[in-house]
Amino acid sequence: MSEITPDYIINFLSDIQPNSHSFIQDLEKYAHKKEIPIISFEVKSLLEFLLSMHQPNTILEIGTAIGYSSILMSQYLPKEGKIITIDRYPYMIEQAKYNIHKAKLNSVITLLEGNAQDILPTLKPYFDLIFLDAAKGQYQTFLPHCLRLLRPGGLLIADNVLYKGMIAKARYDIPRRQRTIHKRLRSFLWDISHHPELQTSILPIGDGVALSYKKDPIDSNLI
Ligand SMILES: C[S@@+](CC[C@H](N)C(=O)[O-])C[C@H]1O[C@@H](n2cnc3c(N)ncnc32)[C@H](O)[C@@H]1O
Repeated sequence: MSEITPDYIINFLSDIQPNSHSFIQDLEKYAHKKEIPIISFEVKSLLEFLLSMHQPNTILEIGTAIGYSSILMSQYLPKEGKIITIDRYPYMIEQAKYNIHKAKLNSVITLLEGNAQDILPTLKPYFDLIFLDAAKGQYQTFLPHCLRLLRPGGLLIADNVLYKGMIAKARYDIPRRQRTIHKRLRSFLWDISHHPELQTSILPIGDGVALSYKKDPIDSNLI
């Protein structure tokens, strides 16, 4: 259930979704049963659309969980395409490794184990697409790395940026323990919306998704 979109709209959109590959469906069922946070069906559909259109060769994902979104995205890569995905939680890493192996995607998806904060500085540019789906309070810290690693003309997609709609509420309407994340996510959204290198659109679907296109300096009209 989304906290942003009314249920009757969610149910309607969910009902008209085409069926995914059975492997993807099984992962979805497993994640829902075990309450493992994976992308919503709206974000899945958006990713599928954007990947079909953008046709990335190289993807960086921050936040693997059990490998669901990586495996999904791999279906939209060209033959030589590669995904690097990062997670720090051993429970997730173990399951992601199992699922990636089971899907025969070891040569496509590389799972880097550890805190993205430590791993991101070690990565070399460029990626065609970066999918940011990790601890929301760290998005702002990850942003300079994403900007360095994303090629001009690349896409940065950040999930859960409206945090159940809470981010749009005033600070004093937020429980005290959530104010830090409220402040950090607002700051991240401000930065990606005003960064001179980015063209950003924030969509109130799922838990909120931010799409940022890294402008290509060759395209002088955009700078
Ligand atoms: C929402 S889940 C990712 C879901 C996944 N993208 C999917 O849709 O299938 C977030 C994941 O990010 C990982 N994570 C959070 N902060 C992280 C960090 N700083 N470094 C590495 N992994 C992190 C968590 O362990 C968790 O597995």
